[in-house]
Amino acid sequence: MAHGLRPRVPRDQDAEQQCEARGPRRGEGPSEHPLVPETASAEAPGRPGETLRASSVSRSFEGVQALRDVTLELRRREVVGLIGPNGAGKSTLVNVLTGFDRPDEGSVELAGSEITAWSPQRRARAGLARTFQHSRSFRGLTVRENVEVAALGAGTGPREARRRADRLLDLLGLAAVAGRGAAELAHGDERRLGVARVLATDPSFVLLDEPAAGLPDAEVPEFAEVVRSLLDENDAGMLLIDHNMALVMGVCDRIHVLDQGRTLAAGTPEEIRGNLDVAAAYLGETAVHETGG
Ligand SMILES: Nc1ncnc2c1ncn2[C@@H]1O[C@H](COP(=O)(O)OP(=O)(O)OP(=O)(O)O)[C@@H](O)[C@H]1O
Ligand SMILES: [Mg+2]
Repeated sequence: MAHGLRPRVPRDQDAEQQCEARGPRRGEGPSEHPLVPETASAEAPGRPGETLRASSVSRSFEGVQALRDVTLELRRREVVGLIGPNGAGKSTLVNVLTGFDRPDEGSVELAGSEITAWSPQRRARAGLARTFQHSRSFRGLTVRENVEVAALGAGTGPREARRRADRLLDLLGLAAVAGRGAAELAHGDERRLGVARVLATDPSFVLLDEPAAGLPDAEVPEFAEVVRSLLDENDAGMLLIDHNMALVMGVCDRIHVLDQGRTLAAGTPEEIRGNLDVAAAYLGETAVHETGG
């Protein structure tokens, strides 16, 4: 595809230069990330932001047990798929991880430090970025301005914000519509803009809640490849919620399956593909347990 982007390949010199132009890479020296306040480093000893973890998290709403004792760990430089039927608790788990909701039980840790009580803003400053399942961009701004605003909001200077926006729009195939009003975008481009806005904050962890929902099937493989490439370049970790199994199976290193708030299965795409419980959950049947025979 365009830009010579391929998942999991060594960076070529061109990409290396582009990375350099974006500023120092995290974990490569004392400067660390400009968006991560020093206090966050102090509170997160070791390599800052190396893992994001929900430990034994439970959450219920008026009798609905949205999450029961769910443990999920996301590491930098990996993509974890979070799948499950409607109402399984996927968005609730993202809310709990990003501070938009608090668990009734259990905890959330970033690099081994508990952040369960941190506000969403504080978590964002420490490198967590998310999309919302039904979010829209700022309709009154251009496509480029939408991305610039996201970068500015994360503390980036105006020139760097502009540069970052242009680069992301180029990578996501939105360069041609950069000057258009966001309200004019076709649905697929709107989804891509959502991803560009999240990545503009240069996050350590990206949590995408159905970023490809409504994308035409033909556009999904390229979307997957671009997202994966951006991730590799950022050394970020990604949690990807999507109902499109081709996308999830194609892009994820590991997959975590929720069903009625509990962990049904976790493993590699191959393991999940062959898991009968998962198949049963998706078909809405009583779980079938593998006998191992
Ligand atoms: N704020 C809330 N108030 C009441 N119930 C809620 C709230 N948020 C979630 N729920 C309930 O918790 C359960 C899990 O919802 P959640 O949105 O996490 O599911 P999901 O896996 O993201 O589903 P979908 O695939 O449809 O997006 C559902 O039964 C939902 O109705
Ligand atoms: Mg959801």
